[in-house]
Amino acid sequence: MAGPGETEQNGALANTRAVYPGEGPAGIFDPFPAAPDDRPFVIAQLGLSLDGRIATPTGESLGINGTAALDHLHRIRAHVDAVVVGVGTIEADNPRLNVRRTQGRNPARVVIDPTGRAGPSGQWLAADGARLMLVTATGAAPPRAETVTLTLENGRIPPRAILDALFARGLRRILIEGGARTVSAFIDAGCVDRLHLLMAPVILGSGKAGLDLAPISAISGAMRPKTKAYLLPGGDVIFDCDLRHSDAGAAL
Ligand SMILES: NC(=O)c1ccc[n+]([C@@H]2O[C@H](COP(=O)([O-])OP(=O)(O)OC[C@H]3O[C@@H](n4cnc5c(N)ncnc54)[C@H](OP(=O)(O)O)[C@@H]3O)[C@@H](O)[C@H]2O)c1
Repeated sequence: MAGPGETEQNGALANTRAVYPGEGPAGIFDPFPAAPDDRPFVIAQLGLSLDGRIATPTGESLGINGTAALDHLHRIRAHVDAVVVGVGTIEADNPRLNVRRTQGRNPARVVIDPTGRAGPSGQWLAADGARLMLVTATGAAPPRAETVTLTLENGRIPPRAILDALFARGLRRILIEGGARTVSAFIDAGCVDRLHLLMAPVILGSGKAGLDLAPISAISGAMRPKTKAYLLPGGDVIFDCDLRHSDAGAAL
C-alpha cells in the first residue's frame, strides 16, 4: 500500500514524493556509494519537455528545466568520477560540465569525438584542476587533455570500450550527460545502470527527441525499469529509472 506522499500506479511508480526547497530527493544517491568496485557504475541523464524533447530544432536546450532540476544535475556531477558528453553537445552548448550549484569536486570531463572536431577551445577545457579526456578514433586531444584512442566498429566506438577505458584510468562512477545520440547509444549497449529523466512542465512541440533506441516491434519488448518519481519545486519531475531491474508488475 502507498504511504504518505507516495502513489502507486499499476506498479510503474513505486514512489512519487514531493521534494521541498533546499533538499535533494532523499535516498536518490544511495546507489552511488553502493556501486560495485569491479566494473563501471553508469548513470545517464536527460532534461526533457513533456513531449520528450531535449532541445529545439535549432539545438537550444538551456531553459527547458527549472532551477531545482539543474541543482539535481550538479548533485549528480558531484557524485561521479567522470562526466561524459558527445561532441554534438560541445558544439551546441559549449558546456562547463563542472559543479557549481552544490558542494563537491569537479569530476573528470570526457568528450567523445571520433574525428577530432571539437577543436582546441571550449569551456570544458577550463584549467580548474579537473582531469580532461578526449575519446577519439583518429584525432588528438587539445593541450591539457588526455587522448584516449579507441577503435571504431561499424563507424562507432562501442560504448563498452569507452567505459572500460575510463575504468582502466581510475574512473569508476560515470555520468553520461548527453546528448540524445550519446545517451541512446549507451542504453542500447546495455551499459547504463540508472537513468534520470528530468521532465519539465514545458511543451516544445518540435525539436530533438531525447531517446532514440533500437526499434521494438511489440509493446511486450519495451523496457519497464523499476522507477521512482520525485516532484521538484517548480514542477519538474525526476524519474529515477533502475535499468538493471524491470518492473514486471507494470505490464498489463
Ligand atoms: N536536455 C538535455 O539534458 C541535454 C543534454 C545534453 C545535450 N543536449 C542537447 O542535445 C543536442 C546534442 O545532442 P546530439 O544527440 O546531437 O549529440 P551528442 O550526443 O552530444 O553527440 C553526438 C556525437 O558524439 C560523437 N559520439 C558520441 N558517442 C559516440 C560513439 N559511441 N562512437 C562514436 N562517436 C560518438 C559522434 O560524433 P561524430 O558526429 O563526429 O561522429 C556523435 O555524432 C544539443 O542540442 C544539446 O543542446 C540536451
